[in-house]
Amino acid sequence: MNPKVHTFENPIETARAVAELIVEGVKEKVKHSQPFNLAISGGSTPKLLFQLLANEYADSIPWFFVRFFWVDERCVPPTSDESNFGMTYQNLLKQISIPETNIFRMQGENQPEIEAQRYEELIQKELPLENDVPQFDLILLGMGDDGHTASIFPNNMNLLHSEHSVVVALHPITEQKRITLTGKTICNAKQLIFFITGESKSDVLRQIIKQEQSALVFPAAHVHNVHTEVDFYLDKKAAAQL
Ligand code: 6PG
Repeated sequence: MNPKVHTFENPIETARAVAELIVEGVKEKVKHSQPFNLAISGGSTPKLLFQLLANEYADSIPWFFVRFFWVDERCVPPTSDESNFGMTYQNLLKQISIPETNIFRMQGENQPEIEAQRYEELIQKELPLENDVPQFDLILLGMGDDGHTASIFPNNMNLLHSEHSVVVALHPITEQKRITLTGKTICNAKQLIFFITGESKSDVLRQIIKQEQSALVFPAAHVHNVHTEVDFYLDKKAAAQL
């Protein structure tokens, strides 16, 4: 782990910093007439970011150059309240002018094993390869209270080292099936950030950032970036113990 911590007053300011990061990343790719390949997580934290992007950046980001992929998806229909795509669509995608061909959703309604293989083949085809592994320009990760990230949970750490880029995972409590990027793909991103807010994450975050022995049970502690440091974008509450 090579963490670089950026702390902000509150969740909205943290989301704004992440939005600015995306703006800069897109600008850089537009200079070379290339797409910005972004993989986003679900859950509640990024909802604020998506609303901010829709409300304040809708006209300032050339969405034609942005291609949306997902870090993980629940195996539910896109219309389900639990769908990560559905949350992104409602809070961002339906409010910006972006070609549908720029949206590469994981199809939660499909048979999980078939969808994992489909998505693995899709990112292998759609993304540039670095060491023969699909490389995203930016991967936006969250972290659960239990230190999971993507849909890699503490009881399934082997997904960090899978030879696959995309696999089927299982939520340890609900046993809900998920499609998730694996450590292989996550750690190969050009830029890899955690966007984490809230006091409930502060204890696990301290263990991870301070590289305490106890952190080894948390999947998020094993996320490193083979190309550069991992950036943590935190609000003060999440960073309270740092
Ligand atoms: C998901 C996410 C997951 C999320 C964490 C944090 O599908 O739930 O991809 O990895 O990032 O669970 O979720 P919150 O932002 O809701 O705390």
